[in-house]
Amino acid sequence: MSDLRAVVFIGPMGSGKSSIGRRVSKRLGVSFTDTDSLIVAEHGPIADLFSARGEEVFRGIEREAVAEALTRGGVVALGGGAILAPETREALADHLVVHLTVSERTIASRIRGAKRPLLNHADPVAEWARIAEERRPLYEALADVTYDTSRGPLRDVVDSAARWAADRLGIALNERKTHE
Ligand code: S3P
Repeated sequence: MSDLRAVVFIGPMGSGKSSIGRRVSKRLGVSFTDTDSLIVAEHGPIADLFSARGEEVFRGIEREAVAEALTRGGVVALGGGAILAPETREALADHLVVHLTVSERTIASRIRGAKRPLLNHADPVAEWARIAEERRPLYEALADVTYDTSRGPLRDVVDSAARWAADRLGIALNERKTHE
């Protein structure tokens, strides 16, 4: 029987869940699903969803997107706040959870732009730090492994996470592409 566990990336906004998760999925030769993208495909931009319908409605939609993504398996990147839902935290017990962290120092260059409604704030970096700190115990409790993405080439994190997941899933890694 094949291993149906998904490799799930969690962590604060801007920690690299989508870009690293996508690259890890290629190394593992499995599908990649980003829950934010599932939501955008069905409902349009997340910032618009927040302003038109509010965060609570967004979280309900997000819970469903996470459940759908986990049934697909492969590699799944969750939105930073998806782990606020108790159902999601419970569901993650059946999967391999990779926690990404990033320092406050590094985050400023990664969170520019208006895509993240929670950071639409007078001091987006301070707000990011407050939210990240508030959620840290949840991320830490759910993590099977943690990588910091604050410095060094992301390729190193991709390599480590892909090797870690491949060992647990009992599958061989694809060669690294030179353009990655
Ligand atoms: C959120 C994170 C975002 C997105 C939404 C809310 C959060 O995803 O789901 O803006 O609550 O942390 P990323 O973590 O991919 O930025």
